[in-house]
Amino acid sequence: MSDATSVHTFDSIHRNLGMELVRVTEAAALSAAPHMGRGDRKAGDQGAVDAMRAVLGTIRMSGTIVIGEGEKDEAPMLYNGERVGTGDAPELDLAVDPVEGTRLLALGRDNAIAVIAATPGGTMWTPGSSYYMEKIVVGREARGTIEMEAPPAENLRRVAEALGRPIDQLTVFVLDKPRHRGLVRQVREAGARVALHTDGDVMGALLAAHPGTGIDLLMGVGGSPEGVIAAVAVQALGGEMFGRLAPQFDDEREALEAEVGREGISRILDLDDLMGGGDGFFAATAITGSPFLKGVRYERALGVTTESLVIRAGSGSVRHIRGSHRLDPEHIFGPDRTAEVVGVVAD
Ligand code: FBP
Repeated sequence: MSDATSVHTFDSIHRNLGMELVRVTEAAALSAAPHMGRGDRKAGDQGAVDAMRAVLGTIRMSGTIVIGEGEKDEAPMLYNGERVGTGDAPELDLAVDPVEGTRLLALGRDNAIAVIAATPGGTMWTPGSSYYMEKIVVGREARGTIEMEAPPAENLRRVAEALGRPIDQLTVFVLDKPRHRGLVRQVREAGARVALHTDGDVMGALLAAHPGTGIDLLMGVGGSPEGVIAAVAVQALGGEMFGRLAPQFDDEREALEAEVGREGISRILDLDDLMGGGDGFFAATAITGSPFLKGVRYERALGVTTESLVIRAGSGSVRHIRGSHRLDPEHIFGPDRTAEVVGVVAD
């Protein structure tokens, strides 16, 4: 193969990769959606994992799951270190969360998404024993104004200035957790509004980085794997994000002290650290609804509809994709689950 052909092929894989990744998140969302509101966190996740793995296997890439659902012996998950794809170039690091917001899905609440992020091989940060990370995220207009070490009031003052709005018109996405009582008080005392959500800080980061969502910042402690996935989206949207390990339990802290030492724990991570600071793809499909993506819907006329977002850091392109799927339920959900069971309109 000539050099010119190889370059062409490589480019075309890259340009199409975003669309391939949307097929992955669509499949996961379609498989998870029948479990919405049924009170079972595991069932939705399992269906989404199986669907993701099946579609990932068809993509021309040598993918390594860097952020998966745990270690191999906890299978059947997409485990850390698992190789996916056809084995051809390019080499990619992948972060997957087949259902980000398992509780949201189980309770039928907004903001559950199927999500995947991809960066060039060897560039994605590995959380190791870290479960929790403190994060701060803003969009493009406020880039360069925030600091991890600054008090919330100071960050809010600077963001308000950058956005040309008074602080009382800013809204901060915070996970509704006891650990955030102090943060919520400080944000309110500074004059900003707080949007409290029980789960789903990848969506929170997306809302903070994407213009026009009504959310201006994300602050607080959430999952470390979710932090890496969010970093790819924030980089692609031109926003800014910092993270810092925030162990919440003694065993997490002890494991991290052994792995990275105290200095490593207190180190501030930027987008370069979290996802290489360069090219990357982020794709998400809504399972339940969200402010800018409708959840999976079953329509007699349209079949099953999905709404997805795919963003590429290299080009800055943001695509909102509406899918209408004429599902063969056996094909998508497996032979033992009929259209009647999953509620799909099959005609
Ligand atoms: P899951 O989908 O794995 O349940 O994660 C949901 C989530 O809310 C994430 O968005 C967030 O980063 C993390 O959990 C916070 O963890 P915790 O609920 O333990 O504080």
